[in-house]
Amino acid sequence: MKKVGLVLLMLLVAMSGMFASGAKESSDAGQMTVGVCMPTQSSERWINDAANMKKQLEALGYKVDVQFAEDDVQAQVSQVENLVAKKVDCLVVAAVDSSALVNALAQAKESGIPVIAYDRLLMDTDAVSYYATFDNKGVGTKIAEYIETTKNLKTAKAEGRSYTIEFFMGSPDDNNALFLYNGVMEVLKPYLDNGVLVTKSGRTSFNDTCILRWSQETAQQWAENYLSAFYATEKLDIACTAFDGFAYGLRSALEGAGYTLGSDWPLVTGQDAELMATKNIISGYQTMSIYKDTRLLAGKAVSMVEAVLKGAQPEINDTTQYNNNKLVVPSYLCEPIAVDKSNFKEIIVDGGYYTAAQLGM
Ligand code: BGC
Repeated sequence: MKKVGLVLLMLLVAMSGMFASGAKESSDAGQMTVGVCMPTQSSERWINDAANMKKQLEALGYKVDVQFAEDDVQAQVSQVENLVAKKVDCLVVAAVDSSALVNALAQAKESGIPVIAYDRLLMDTDAVSYYATFDNKGVGTKIAEYIETTKNLKTAKAEGRSYTIEFFMGSPDDNNALFLYNGVMEVLKPYLDNGVLVTKSGRTSFNDTCILRWSQETAQQWAENYLSAFYATEKLDIACTAFDGFAYGLRSALEGAGYTLGSDWPLVTGQDAELMATKNIISGYQTMSIYKDTRLLAGKAVSMVEAVLKGAQPEINDTTQYNNNKLVVPSYLCEPIAVDKSNFKEIIVDGGYYTAAQLGM
């Protein structure tokens, strides 16, 4: 009897040890906090990015501290500094200005806080471990290839066709913007050179077409100026824009200048496949966008967080392209997809990104 009692007692002690260690593990995960710094809530994509990161990290037991900088560079510097002071366990940062966080990130490194660059590369710093993004040059290539295919540019010269085009490119302080521009020009430059594409404003260089902080208002203002100064007689055929926000600005400018759907409305490109942009694709005010599944991107960033905190191995598919002037940052590039009227349902609705009801279908 005594022996049975002893065995039982030992069993109980062993079991309580198991439970205790199980509880410890989960409370450890629960105690880890990930700081997530996003650039702005003025564009829907970053709100989705933050929500997806939060959801996926919380599902793994992390606490999440999300900060939005509302495109204010100094505000983001302070947010990163505060998160470092709070001793978060890891930082995930989508920068407002890719080069402005060098000192704040150095503080993170000194405090032993690993940093993941989210969507936008963090420049001039050795404090960054990994980079999760989309193929940014590929975004540009896909926008340009869409224009090339839709307007049949390959045969235009021989057939004596030409088109007017204006460019609205991304922010000069966002490393993604130049990648995108280079992707666009890789496809379209030959057509600008042989006269199939004509830019009446004369603005084709990155410096002449980049729009600081991806401002919708600036894009609209530029479009209004171009339309009244250069397109009074000959119409604008193509607005090659790098962002859905720009496409909204274009819509207002085009409506203001008297363009109408179904007659002289130009081909308008965009990026992000925001809800409003997708609705505009359905109605025709925007021709296409680049769908970036932020659930996928968040998943890749989360696997990088797990890697730096738990020594796991994140999936990497690029170790050459993203040199931030200090190191070539090991990256995962998700695939961007061009969407228009013909495939948005299959890609976006069937893919569960927006419901038919959200799109008013
Ligand atoms: C992102 C784009 C986005 C743009 C403006 C870029 O860094 O890669 O998806 O449209 O910022 O927010």
